[in-house]
Amino acid sequence: MSDLTITPVEGKTFGAVVTGVKLAQLSDATFERVHAAFLEHGFLVFPGQFLSEQDSVAFGQRFGELEFGGIPMSNQRRITEGSYGEIFDLQTQLMRTNIGNEAWHTDSTYKPISSKCAMLSAVTVPDEGGETELADARAAYAALDEETKRKIAHLSAYHSTQYSQANDIGDFPVQSEKSVYHGEAYLRPLVKVHPETGVKNLFVGRHAFGIPGLSRAESRALLKSLVEFIVSDPTRVYVHHWRPGDTLLWDNRALLHRARPYDYGKPRVLIGTRVAGDPASELAYYPTDPEAEAGRQALSAELKLLREETQDRMFGATTAAVPL
Ligand code: SIN
Repeated sequence: MSDLTITPVEGKTFGAVVTGVKLAQLSDATFERVHAAFLEHGFLVFPGQFLSEQDSVAFGQRFGELEFGGIPMSNQRRITEGSYGEIFDLQTQLMRTNIGNEAWHTDSTYKPISSKCAMLSAVTVPDEGGETELADARAAYAALDEETKRKIAHLSAYHSTQYSQANDIGDFPVQSEKSVYHGEAYLRPLVKVHPETGVKNLFVGRHAFGIPGLSRAESRALLKSLVEFIVSDPTRVYVHHWRPGDTLLWDNRALLHRARPYDYGKPRVLIGTRVAGDPASELAYYPTDPEAEAGRQALSAELKLLREETQDRMFGATTAAVPL
């Protein structure tokens, strides 16, 4: 018999804290209860788990196929498990990518198949800053006025993390088919119907751009206003103040998240695991499909404009040539 306790986060539309369970030794029956809570609450906090990299992989695999598992999402080089070396320079592509994650997003919408869920487990955290924030895009959709719901019902946006890096921080990573900076952009509806709960949410965030049928200015304004609307109500935003050993799990098909700034000279090591979505509900198309060409062209045109427009942003529209 498990002592599993699921306590909804007070004053929020989403989230729960789960205690009385060891994620590293989870029975199928307890996993079923955790999974049901994940679908209901959108994110779960598991304090004091201290998962190993392999434990993170094993827990992630219970949700489906992994994009990656048990890897440090860190500002410090991993030497061996639990042992970390130099702190990366801010100019490295890895740190530019980490800093890009400080704008609201949902994971992997820039891949053919976007993500189902993700988890982070804290190893080392700074005394101040470096929180992870989550926002409830389901409650936000439900709170939208009917006119906006009608307006966005049939709209889609392209998603690319070359777009978001350029637009948010003036970073233009070297393009390569082998990286996430691959030159493709994937078209996804602004309103996502959750494949397991049937609940609608606003599927937007930093990677989204170029709504077909709208001018560039209209598209930018609409996407910005939808993200601002989601986070405008404090009951829809949760701030996770990390403690070593915490594991945080969230549903990428229903929530936005972002990292918060900290003193980048201090270590911040979180172990990340990301589960791929179901192709039946999270596949846009593959680069070899005919519709991919329109995305490629939309991204290329957008990046050309952003090169001019982002000179004053954090990395000043320079090309990051520093390897990961
Ligand atoms: C992420 O955006 O996936 C990472 C968030 C974090 O580092 O807090």
